[in-house]
Amino acid sequence: MDQAARDRLDASARKILEDNDRGGYTVPTSGLYPFQWNWDSCLVALGWAAFDEARAWQEIETLLSAQWDDGMVPHIVFRRPDPGYFPGPEVWRTGRTPATSGITQPPVAASCVRRILERARDRTCAEAAARRLFPKLLAFQRWFHRVRDPGRLGLVATLHPWETGMDNSPAWDEALGRIEVAPDLEPYTRRDTQHVAAAERPTSAEYDRYMTLVELYRAHDYGPGIVREAPFRVADVATNCILLRADRDLLWLANRLGPTDAPRDEIAGWISRAEASFARFRNPATGLWRSYDLRADAPVPTATHAGFLAFWAGVGDDALAESLDKWLAGTRYGLASVRADDPRFERQRYWRGPIWAITNFLIGEGLAESGFERLAARLRDDTAALIAAHGFFEYFDAVDGRGCGGDRFSWTAAMWLAWARQAT
Ligand code: GLC
Repeated sequence: MDQAARDRLDASARKILEDNDRGGYTVPTSGLYPFQWNWDSCLVALGWAAFDEARAWQEIETLLSAQWDDGMVPHIVFRRPDPGYFPGPEVWRTGRTPATSGITQPPVAASCVRRILERARDRTCAEAAARRLFPKLLAFQRWFHRVRDPGRLGLVATLHPWETGMDNSPAWDEALGRIEVAPDLEPYTRRDTQHVAAAERPTSAEYDRYMTLVELYRAHDYGPGIVREAPFRVADVATNCILLRADRDLLWLANRLGPTDAPRDEIAGWISRAEASFARFRNPATGLWRSYDLRADAPVPTATHAGFLAFWAGVGDDALAESLDKWLAGTRYGLASVRADDPRFERQRYWRGPIWAITNFLIGEGLAESGFERLAARLRDDTAALIAAHGFFEYFDAVDGRGCGGDRFSWTAAMWLAWARQAT
């Protein structure tokens, strides 16, 4: 890519973040997602850090200011009303200020804090911010281990497809399909399909089940007891890999920042417990990694691209890299979220096939760190090519690369600024 093209894309990406800035937090895209989302904000902070480090720190601080007393960081923070989104605060009714949802999302925060700190130009500001954030990151990850792994399995449970960040992934079909839609489900009107074509979004059968789970958890006030009650309870390979990586980064932060009371042994214990339990994700027959259905006590039948996050967690191996090579051979651009020859593959339907810049980044950086340079470069260069040809879309059609979902999307802009712009 020539310098002029790169400069143009840099300017557009910055403009997207600035336009999506609502004063201290960034919405994923205006219209479709008008609030602050958990993992979006952390990844978007990496983009801000490329040109405004203070604003990057502010993004994560704003998110963590909505942390619950028990340590949970909610998946959405509703800072101002917006009738264009469903389900909004009047559905979640968590009784918090600011209003939030009652479930969480993959904990990328600590890894983003480490990354921004390591690259910071303003080291004094960065160290001060990371020190302020450290206790909150620790509380978040401790919450995951304590509340979501009550049996100390070394695998944390996810209780709603929205918590995985990969809402309608085919990995959830069986677990979600077993849920009976509540007969007295409150009538509702979806808003997402007013912004984006229904063919690119989850189906209404899935939505009824998403809402059944929300109403059930709300009835239990989103307390720790919902782990036992939850009709949907999976060990999501993505969340577990992201948490393992976050635990490693938290330990790194503890050593780097040197709080004397940092519970290093406790964090090291989480790491070794996870490492010992991850065999559960591996499918020896295919070399692929997939999630584990804790209710059914069986692996989920469908492996998705989430399994390649093992590289981000530092536990990917040669067999997985070989599988990735084969997976990449199925489409012109990488990385399709579902293998193109899988019967459940749908090229444009959200997490059922399309390509996402954020997962390309997480997997790509993990590959580079584990020495799989060629595969890492492939994911980075493909991400750059998709953005250059089609724009900063939420995600991309897995067959021809066309932009899908929301346009002018913050995390795609951030992935450009933080990573893909280094493409060859
Ligand atoms: C969708 C995505 C989720 C993301 C959110 C906001 O729900 O599945 O991963 O955080 O939109 O972009």
